[in-house]
Amino acid sequence: MTIDALIVGAGFSGSVIARLLAENTKAKILVIDSRDHIGGNCYDYVNQYGIRVSKYGAHLFHTKRQDVWDFISSYGTWEPWEHKVLAKIYPRDGCDESVHVPVPVCIQTIQQLYDPSIETEEDMRRWLAEETKNVINSGPFKNSMESAVARFGCRIYNDFFRNYTWKQWNKYPDNLDSSVLERIPLRYDRDDRYFTDPIQMLPSCGYTQVFDQLLDHPQIEIKLSTDYFLERHCFNGVQFTVFTGPIDGYFASYGLDRLEYRSLHFEDFNINVEQNDAVVQPASVVNEPSMRVPYTRTVEFKQFLNQRSPYSTLVREYSSSFGEPYYPVPNDQNLKLYSKYQQLAVKETGKERRNVQFLGRLANYKYLNMDQAIGNALDHWQQWKTEGFLKEMVA
Ligand code: FAD
Ligand code: NA
Repeated sequence: MTIDALIVGAGFSGSVIARLLAENTKAKILVIDSRDHIGGNCYDYVNQYGIRVSKYGAHLFHTKRQDVWDFISSYGTWEPWEHKVLAKIYPRDGCDESVHVPVPVCIQTIQQLYDPSIETEEDMRRWLAEETKNVINSGPFKNSMESAVARFGCRIYNDFFRNYTWKQWNKYPDNLDSSVLERIPLRYDRDDRYFTDPIQMLPSCGYTQVFDQLLDHPQIEIKLSTDYFLERHCFNGVQFTVFTGPIDGYFASYGLDRLEYRSLHFEDFNINVEQNDAVVQPASVVNEPSMRVPYTRTVEFKQFLNQRSPYSTLVREYSSSFGEPYYPVPNDQNLKLYSKYQQLAVKETGKERRNVQFLGRLANYKYLNMDQAIGNALDHWQQWKTEGFLKEMVA
């Protein structure tokens, strides 16, 4: 078919735009992805033990944006799910005894680990004031050690953040911008949910079904295992392209340095637990802030939506600097470099008859939650409509 619009990437950014184009214009749309599946990093599948597993790490949907929820909830079926995370802490050096406590740090965390008498928000504030009385506690902070110690004190910093940050970023907090640990929440109450957004959901039949339905439209064709960088010459005549892949790959021939990313590696194992409702660990996600193990967390997928199976599938996550790009590394050097790519993107977007839009976490070099990726796509769509450059395609 002759196509009017090419969408590179079948994650949320590309799939939401494809759907909006299909429903609101006459455009014939081709969605390509270099992977052999749709869904981008949200892709999931049911494994040989009947357990739904996310290929690229656990994904919990949460949002404050009603418009995002109104849009996405009409694809697939969703049900409420409040996510909780426990951290495995070794309270005494050189001793193998461990405790599982809630994160983000809340009243229960302090009770279980440091002081059983902490009951109220007032107790909590007093306890934290005492913990932080001998440290610098007003900014501007030079790094993430200072910003974390100022809020949490040294004990929590050492038990929860110091080594975890090293495992995740290959840097200790004193070598990371203060903003990294400034974003970590701290609760003065007993709310031990991982997120506090009013809308917290999981798709009952998985994310992949949500994508199946998003892309199920007579004007949309999907081509998987198709790498834009290898086949871009085939698409020269396309009027409108939305690119949701890595921006440094798009402009690879311009000789700029490549952008830096952290990557993840997954190690899964299956345990015969014999009973359909038996589980292995005390929460779906257990964070591992200690140096005793090299992985950052273990996910037990069976626990999401209380799935039943005589087996349990667990996945350990290792952070590394090589492999597929997952998390942008937001330091000065990378952000300066990204702004050079951004300038190239602005020029490319303006080229006559080659409207190329750069959308999503890889094209914008920015960590986005799913709701932000969906929200960005909705916002861009509105903006394009207002600017009127889709005129030729709009019905
Ligand atoms: P992607 O999903 O990455 O989609 C981009 C697609 O483009 C990919 O499929 C890729 O294969 C394709 N592509 C790239 N280059 C090319 C090319 N050259 N040719 C063709 N195709 C190409 N968000 C939450 O809200 N809650 C969570 O709990 C959560 N957990 C996460 C856990 C992990 C481990 C990670 C990494 C992310 C998590 N996220 C979570 C974020 C979520 O994954 C993103 O918001 C979402 O993936 C963004 O969608 P996207 O379409 O922008 O990018
Ligand atoms: Na994705």
